[in-house]
Amino acid sequence: MNITKVTAVYYSAVGSTKAVTEKIAGLIAEKLGVPADSYDYTLPESRTETQHYGPSELVVFGTSVYAGRVPNKLLPAVQNCFKADGALAVPVVTFGNRNFDNGLIELRNELENNGFHTIAGAGIACRHVFSEKLAPGRPDEADWNAIENFALSVAEKVMTLTEIPAPVSVRGDDPVGPYYTPLGTDGKPAVFLKAKPLTKAELCDKCGICVEACPMGSIDAADPSLVSGICIKCQACVKKCPTGAKYFDDPAFLSHVAMLEQNYTRRAEPEFFL
Ligand SMILES: Cc1cc2nc3c(=O)[nH]c(=O)nc-3n(C[C@H](O)[C@H](O)[C@H](O)COP(=O)(O)O)c2cc1C
Repeated sequence: MNITKVTAVYYSAVGSTKAVTEKIAGLIAEKLGVPADSYDYTLPESRTETQHYGPSELVVFGTSVYAGRVPNKLLPAVQNCFKADGALAVPVVTFGNRNFDNGLIELRNELENNGFHTIAGAGIACRHVFSEKLAPGRPDEADWNAIENFALSVAEKVMTLTEIPAPVSVRGDDPVGPYYTPLGTDGKPAVFLKAKPLTKAELCDKCGICVEACPMGSIDAADPSLVSGICIKCQACVKKCPTGAKYFDDPAFLSHVAMLEQNYTRRAEPEFFL
């Protein structure tokens, strides 16, 4: 199949999904001898128009998994902002060492609904944004080697494709099941939907980095301690604040993080589907 361009498209609040998606797209492009491009739909202004991909393009489409699925507040963008006229696609999800559950199969289905032909997929364990104890240092060298082998296999598949294949088979339930319910250390659902980041006033110099980083555009520019819109707990503001002024103290949220640390420190391996 003649592919003339490879594009990494991704949502990535803290940068793990960006790194993985761009790596895969770059390696495929190199092997095919075609240019690589990127489209980052993390911020609200990148989700106002629809991107179109033609039949000679390949898109490596990445998202992190939230609650075992495509992040629900980003789903409308996945559904409406990326349309294809027969472009090939490689759905890629990153997850924080618990499980990607139905995230990959949901992304595959959405891409197929949007006119893409999915030819491969991957679920990549990355450091969990909630805790340094969950998959620290991931992806590590072994992950990157596996990711490189996967990208080269995808490129080889593209070169030998003579007709459009069936949608790639990936792990997950079809139809896609419900969102994962976060639990606390007591084993009961931990309800922290309304939790928002707090700000240590003595550390915040109102630089505005958190305002720019928020994927929901929810942080007040004049007073960054005010979160007027929705918070999806992505941790972009916490991770990107240069003075460490942002934090969460919601008890249910902290209990969920503690539960993850108690149960999900074993190594989750990346999974590849071709
Ligand atoms: C709200 C929220 C929910 C999450 N849910 C899951 C989950 O269900 N399973 C899992 O293994 N990791 C989960 N994670 C961890 C992220 O998928 C992981 O840290 C990801 O690599 C973040 O990458 P990104 O911010 O670069 O996109 C969750 C993270 C957040 C912020």
